Amino acid sequence: MEVVIADEYTLAELAADAIEALLRTEAAPVIGLATGSSPLRIYDELTTRHKNEGLSFARAQAFMLDEYVGIADDHPQRYRNVIDAEIATRVDFAEGAVHGPEGSADDLAAASADYERKIAEAGGIDLQILGIGSDGHIAFNEPGSSLASRTRVKSLTHQTRLDNARFFDGDVEQVPKLCLTQGLGTIMEAKHIVLVATGGNKAEAVHQMVEGPISAMWPATVLQMHPHVTVMLDDAAASRL
Ligand code: GLP
Repeated sequence: MEVVIADEYTLAELAADAIEALLRTEAAPVIGLATGSSPLRIYDELTTRHKNEGLSFARAQAFMLDEYVGIADDHPQRYRNVIDAEIATRVDFAEGAVHGPEGSADDLAAASADYERKIAEAGGIDLQILGIGSDGHIAFNEPGSSLASRTRVKSLTHQTRLDNARFFDGDVEQVPKLCLTQGLGTIMEAKHIVLVATGGNKAEAVHQMVEGPISAMWPATVLQMHPHVTVMLDDAAASRL
């Protein structure tokens, strides 16, 4: 693992540099997109580069990490709508180039298998942007997730629902209880993983991820086994290293 500690503006520029390099060199780049507040500055930086420097996403495909189950299609916190608002509709992705797990499908197991197939057909993910939950989850792989898991239905822990209640009028009861998420095994197949964490509430999870024993109880520790991970931290998130 390469660990970079800088202020959040510098981190966003560095992450955007890595994505820009991919977009400029690959014929058919595949980007993994994360939701949550951590990647927002990266998406803003990419949008600015698209507008001011002509950085194009026209040849790229993108795959989201996860999606809530049991949320209205037009709910602003549905992850598809979040990704559309934060990046997908702000740059020039081709029609249909941004994919997400179908959390509203009748057959969630079939939707999960279908999503895995789509990622494989695209040739796998070149660069995956990741955040981390305060309990060490990545995507929605909560503590106890199999380190080899694939895209599947998961229930959210109470801690994650509390963490995400801020996006649902502060009301934990409005936060969905289920999701579809790429598995840890799926995420581990991305060629390069860029994980961004800022703020003191991530310090323990970051400590476990970088220095703790590999364990399903801290799902992000699986990244220690990945050959190309860049962990981008501000001082507060790095304070327990
Ligand atoms: C959610 C998402 C994760 C994200 C996490 C942290 O649970 N499913 O992909 O990493 O939140 O979010 P934030 O970046 O807002 O702290």
